[in-house]
Amino acid sequence: MAFREYKIGARMFGLAFGTSMFITLYMPAVDIASVSVTSIGLDRQLSFGRVGGFSYEDPFLLGWSKPITVEITTDPKTGAGIEPTRAFVYEAETAFPNGIRHPRILGKGPSALSLDKGRMSEASEDIGAVFIVRESNQDGVMVPYIENATATRGWMPEATLAKASDSQRLHVGKGKIMFVREGCWWCHTLLPEETQDWQYFGAPPMLGDFNGESPTAFGSDRKAPDLTHVGSRNSSREWMTMHFFNPRLVQPHSIMPRYDYLWGEEDAKGNTIDFDGWRTAYTAYASGESIYPPEVPVPAADSEARALIDFVLNLK
Ligand code: HEC
Repeated sequence: MAFREYKIGARMFGLAFGTSMFITLYMPAVDIASVSVTSIGLDRQLSFGRVGGFSYEDPFLLGWSKPITVEITTDPKTGAGIEPTRAFVYEAETAFPNGIRHPRILGKGPSALSLDKGRMSEASEDIGAVFIVRESNQDGVMVPYIENATATRGWMPEATLAKASDSQRLHVGKGKIMFVREGCWWCHTLLPEETQDWQYFGAPPMLGDFNGESPTAFGSDRKAPDLTHVGSRNSSREWMTMHFFNPRLVQPHSIMPRYDYLWGEEDAKGNTIDFDGWRTAYTAYASGESIYPPEVPVPAADSEARALIDFVLNLK
């Protein structure tokens, strides 16, 4: 009987641990599973692709197997003019997002509509597909769903990409990888706190904005502004370009690191970037020897810097 107390203690510990795990893990999971995705949530997961962080499709976090978000005004099939439309182009072999692989996680309404009206399950990763986000009036409530435009309108990935100019192609999915890989979340959050934060950083997101997103990159310990709506308060591509190349160009006392290495070797015109020359000219500017800072190179279309800027400007 000497160990009786220990047995009681072990059971009490097991009960307390089990209860706290039930409350911490199981109860929110039930809550999340009953949430329907919002149109913002659909936009996010279609533009990010399957995973926005480490995955076996992209083990080195280089932005492989990611869709391209395009804004088109011409129908890729018929060539006729259309209302400006945002489409998510998945070229052949690009991994489909979780919501398409497992429609259940979109929530009841959106998943039923995506399958029936949107013909989502007809999409195939082997040949690729083009998706758009639509809304349908269900008994007075607008329910968002995914339309597989390849099945419903005959929009093929290559033809759709061809209708978008360089500035209408947003590498948002690759940019999210850069955001995660570079540890931007170490200083920035993507979730305004439930405080007066909302007055400054804008409306808080809804739970349904995140269905199927992995990882969410909310961040936790904030040393810098929340970026949830940064694209709405500052939509200047030039500002972002200068700020990422060297934050001190636009914010003299910024503690943010420079991300000039994301530019790669060549700029948008194919010229080799002279980082040392730039640095020398910048030092002369920073010390007051010259009046103007050196020009920041425009990032090439396939550079990591371009993808990161597309991602950040897309945070609206
Ligand atoms: C060491 C902390 C730190 C890291 C890491 C960091 N930032 Fe920043 N960032 C800041 C600070 C501080 C500011 C505010 C001053 C400024 O504008 O530079 C800022 C400002 C910004 C702004 C402008 C915000 C606004 O409200 O207008 C953007 C956009 C931004 N950062 C994006 C990024 C991205 C993307 C990354 C990752 C590639 C990143 N930051 C990494 C500290 C950081």
